[in-house]
Amino acid sequence: MKTRITELLGIEHPIVQGGMHFVGLAELAAAVSNAGGLGIITGLTQGTPEKLEAEIARCREMTDKPFGVNMTFLPALTPPDYPGLFKVIVESGVGVVETAGNNPSEWLPMLKEAGVKVVHKCTSVRHALKAQAIGCDAVSVDGFECGGHPGEDDVPNFILLPRAAEELEIPFISSGGMADGRSLVASLAMGAEGMNMGTRFIATQEAPVHPNVKQALVEASELDTRLIMRGLRNTERVLTNEGVERLIAKEQELGADLKFEDILPEVAGIYPRVMKEGDVDAGAWSCGMVAGLIHDIPTVKELVDRIMSEADALIQQRLAGMSAA
Ligand SMILES: Cc1cc2nc3c(=O)[nH]c(=O)nc-3n(C[C@H](O)[C@H](O)[C@H](O)COP(=O)(O)O)c2cc1C
Repeated sequence: MKTRITELLGIEHPIVQGGMHFVGLAELAAAVSNAGGLGIITGLTQGTPEKLEAEIARCREMTDKPFGVNMTFLPALTPPDYPGLFKVIVESGVGVVETAGNNPSEWLPMLKEAGVKVVHKCTSVRHALKAQAIGCDAVSVDGFECGGHPGEDDVPNFILLPRAAEELEIPFISSGGMADGRSLVASLAMGAEGMNMGTRFIATQEAPVHPNVKQALVEASELDTRLIMRGLRNTERVLTNEGVERLIAKEQELGADLKFEDILPEVAGIYPRVMKEGDVDAGAWSCGMVAGLIHDIPTVKELVDRIMSEADALIQQRLAGMSAA
C-alpha cells in the first residue's frame, strides 16, 4: 500500500511502532521494520549516548530496512543528555525520529540538516499545527484511547482524526486504539496516511518483554485501563493492577494536595520490574484501551501481514460492495 507516509519514511506498509519505554528495544524495532513497517527504538530507555549508539548498531545487525528512534521530552529532575543522544542519532545515520512530550523545535535544525525525518506525536490539533509550523515532516495524532500520555483534552480518535484532516497539510498517522485491518482502513477513511500502534505490538513473539506482560494484555478487556496523575496534569493511561489501585486510592484521599512524591512507589522504577521481571502488578505501566482487541500473541510479521490482508479485504469487498453510486 502506497501513502504519503510510506513514501516519506521509505516503508512498504503504513504501520509504525510507537516508542515504548523498556519495550522498544532493537529486537522489536527490527522485527517491525523487517515486516515492512517502521520500527522505533526508545531513546530514553537506553539513557546514555553510548548505550543508544550500541542499540542502534544492534538493530542494524538485525535489519537492513529503515527504522527510527523515539525521543521523549519529560519533566525530569536530572534531564537526560539530550544533546549527546541527538548527536548519536544523527551520526548513526538513523533516518527517522519520533519526538513526543514537548516541542522539539530546538533539535529540528540539526535533524533537518542531516536529512532526518521528524514525526512529532501529539494529542491535539493545536499541537499538531504547531509541529507543522516549526517544520516537522509528519505528525502522529494520539487520541484519548491511547496507552501512555493522552494529554488533558480527552478527544477520542473518531473526532480527533477528522479534525486533524481538516486542519493539517503535512501527512499524519493515527495513534491510539489501533490494532487491526479495521483500524487501518478507518484511519485512512478519516484522513490519516497510516497508523501507529503501541500496546498491540507488545503482545507479539518478538517484543522483548516478560511473557506475563503479553499474557496480561491478552487477558485484559477494554475496561481494564485507568487514567492516573490527572491532578498533576501528567495524565497517563495504564493497565489496572494492585499498584495502580493503591495509587488511585492516594489520589482520592489527597485530592488537590497530591504531590508526585506521594506516588513515587507506584511510578518510579516500575518499567524494569514489569517488562523484565514480569511483575505486572508492581505499579503503573502504560496500556491502551485497545487491550480489549488483543486476543493472541503472533509474530510481528504475522500481525502486520494479517492487518494488511484484512485491510485489503475490507476495501475490496465490504466497502466496494457498499458503493453509494
Ligand atoms: C508500555 C508503553 C510504553 C510507552 N512508552 C512511551 C515512551 O517512552 N515515549 C512515547 O513517546 N510514547 C510511549 N508510549 C506511547 C506509544 O508510543 C503510542 O503512542 C501509544 O501506545 C499508542 O496507543 P495504543 O497503545 O493504543 O496503540 C508507550 C506506550 C506503551 C503501551
